Amino acid sequence: MERIYINGGNRLHGKVEISGAKNAAVALIPAALLADDVVELENVPHIADISSMVSVLKDLGVSIHYLDEHTLRIDSRGLVNRPADSEGVRKMRASYYLLGVLLGRFGSADVVFPGGCNFGIRPIDLHLKGFESLGATVEAKDRIQVRAEHLHGANIFLDVVSVGATINIMLAAVLADGTTVISNAAKEPHVVDTANFLNSMGANISGAGTDRIVIRGVRRLHGTTYQIIPDQIEAGTYMVAAAITGGDITVRNIIPKHMDSISAKLLDMGAFIEEFDDAIRVCAPEPLKDTVIKTAPYPGFPTDMQPQFMTLMSVVRGTSIITENVWDNRFQYVTQLHKLGADISVDGRVAVVKGVDHLDGCEVEATDLRAGAAMVLAGLAARGTTVITNVKYISRGYEAMVQKLVQLGADIRLEGAAADPIIVEGRVG
Ligand code: EPZ
Repeated sequence: MERIYINGGNRLHGKVEISGAKNAAVALIPAALLADDVVELENVPHIADISSMVSVLKDLGVSIHYLDEHTLRIDSRGLVNRPADSEGVRKMRASYYLLGVLLGRFGSADVVFPGGCNFGIRPIDLHLKGFESLGATVEAKDRIQVRAEHLHGANIFLDVVSVGATINIMLAAVLADGTTVISNAAKEPHVVDTANFLNSMGANISGAGTDRIVIRGVRRLHGTTYQIIPDQIEAGTYMVAAAITGGDITVRNIIPKHMDSISAKLLDMGAFIEEFDDAIRVCAPEPLKDTVIKTAPYPGFPTDMQPQFMTLMSVVRGTSIITENVWDNRFQYVTQLHKLGADISVDGRVAVVKGVDHLDGCEVEATDLRAGAAMVLAGLAARGTTVITNVKYISRGYEAMVQKLVQLGADIRLEGAAADPIIVEGRVG
């Protein structure tokens, strides 16, 4: 079984290159199927979720291969609209994007229920309601089947700000007949990236990044070459690595604007932040202090950074409070922090964190993707050795995390990992 071993206490320092955004890539790769053409995607992160998505598309007859380690060539002219029910589909939450894409392009889709990290109920009712507004009939018993004789524009109000529903409705609406307005839309960077990508293929989408997105249906989309944005959450994770180890790290190849809520919290805790055009430097020469965090949709503090900050808060002086407003059960990993000596009490969606002088390394488990990243951060700060099991979660969303941390001076190693090489086929033919 794969395990990560960390001997804590090193102050991390140096530069780290941030990879392409996971939550943009898992939307853009299926979105490419809307064009009956060839698409090249650059800055694709080398992570397990992308490998899963690539295998899912191959099962649908799509010709997809790597031109280099981070560039995918996707040719969907051989796409067959058959039921998507493979292991890869069941593993990922982002499999739900196949619904919007296949419905948008063919007028029907048949996909098993998506998987993904388990932190409470993760409904997709807003996705399905959106498809119905566009003229589809939906059946969701043991799998999800959507069908539409004719997709037409609609005015759709999202009861809850939902990244997935916003993107999925965009995917289904770009080729529909008429104009669709999504109100109370999500504004995350990966929502904007998806709209920009679709527009580069000939779509007509405006308002992405605001809470009102207007999609004017077009007759067809064409191929494109597009570079995926950098990963806000990976960048935030390394910024916290600098803070929790009292180190000095420059995260490079980022969009600083995307990091505003994270930078603001680190500044509030007493860290030093220096912004450049495409980089941010974080250092923490002095001990940090407590803060208060309430997670919220972008541009609020991202829920996907909640476990990483909980870990940081557990070793700074004072009492911090985290309120998790997006997911109903995203504190399951706190039991693992307790094993390391953290003093955290959870009551529903609120966690109270009393800073302790230090954590003591031991064996802990990654309970989901971002919780796994939090365990790594805890190990970097803890005294002694921390062993992390279930590390397959971490490889779902972080490219070469152990190698990047070694380059920053961490005493960390990965054992038992099955290689997942990128097979570069280059420009064949
Ligand atoms: C995306 O999940 C991300 N995943 C999640 O990141 C992230 O936590 C989440 O957005 C919030 O930012 C991907 O992009 C693949 P939502 P998603 O729809 O789309 C409720 C990570 O670590 N809701 O924005 O599933 C839902 O219950 C992962 O990278 C409905 O009620 O999240 C939640 O309370 C973990 N009905 C809220 O909306 C719906 O139909 C936000 O969910 C859909 C959502």
